[in-house]
Amino acid sequence: MTKVFSGIRPSGKLHLGNYLGAIKNWIELQNEADKAIFAVVDYHGITTPFDPKTYPQQVADTVLDYLAAGVNPDKALLIRQSKVPQHTELAWIFNTITPVSWLDRLPTYKEQLEKSSKYNHMGLLDYPVLMAADILVYKSNLVPVGEDQMPHIDLTNEIAKKFNSMFGETFEPVKAKLTEGARIMSLQDTSKKMSKTGDEGIALSDDPDTIRAKIKKAVTDSGKDILFNEDTKPAISNLITIYHLLSVKEIKNIEAMYENKSYSEFKNDLAEVVVDFLKPFQEKRRKFEDDPKTVLNILEKSEDKARELASKTLEEVKEKMGLNY
Ligand code: TYM
Repeated sequence: MTKVFSGIRPSGKLHLGNYLGAIKNWIELQNEADKAIFAVVDYHGITTPFDPKTYPQQVADTVLDYLAAGVNPDKALLIRQSKVPQHTELAWIFNTITPVSWLDRLPTYKEQLEKSSKYNHMGLLDYPVLMAADILVYKSNLVPVGEDQMPHIDLTNEIAKKFNSMFGETFEPVKAKLTEGARIMSLQDTSKKMSKTGDEGIALSDDPDTIRAKIKKAVTDSGKDILFNEDTKPAISNLITIYHLLSVKEIKNIEAMYENKSYSEFKNDLAEVVVDFLKPFQEKRRKFEDDPKTVLNILEKSEDKARELASKTLEEVKEKMGLNY
């Protein structure tokens, strides 16, 4: 049985990296899998600074992005993580078997600390344990994510193995599913991945003029050839990857199309590829935005079902740990 789980933090507008790195695979997998659950991981989102006044809207926006991108409520459950308390309950149990040394060496934790050491709280350190619980509370075995999440998937497997060895076989191994766009880089700094802030990313909800302006401003490499080489031409290669994945044209065909053309001609065309790709997404998003009742209904039905599934795992876990009184 293939059981898919994935999630995104509602910490800003979803961008092309989130789409190409993760959501694109969700949409394909929801049709093939026996079960698929996609979560807006709002408890993860509060581990970095957030504004309580705007947070509910950010969660709602992420839900709309999921639906607009093609998450199909007939095939998958679409949930808000905090509405299924079994995630955090299992995370607590996992906390009791996870050595701190497994967590404080993780690259995402170190990166966050570099950004702001005043946010060195337990939630930041513990973040991957909650992620393991998100996945294992449904006994999921396939997790479509971008490359940056690989250490967390490895940790999930370590925790599952440790639980099995301490309390008996309960969880099966979890596999990550990476896309070709598993690492889309920032448009402003190709040493960083595309993120949810500023001009370095294209939000799925950006309007055509914003998209054109951001691509125009995107950094390029020295020279003028439009060739794919991630070592010598990281910026152009990143733009070619986006062009390739959104237009479904082969990379070598793109190189041939732009053999005698300039960076600016290539960028102008890329902007139109992105605008055209996002147009149906944005139209669909507006339809859902105008129908909050339907959206709430999808969420509540999914969350009911998710609580039912998750509580079965939790019962089994408690039984095995002698906590079923
Ligand atoms: P988050 O919110 O940082 O990112 C969501 C997903 O988007 C992918 N991604 C990218 N892929 C390619 N290029 C990029 N520039 C890029 N930026 C982001 C991420 O790899 C991810 O798949 N810890 C997770 C959320 C989470 C989760 C889970 C995921 C919580 N519980 C359980 C899977 C299963 C996170 O912070 O993702």
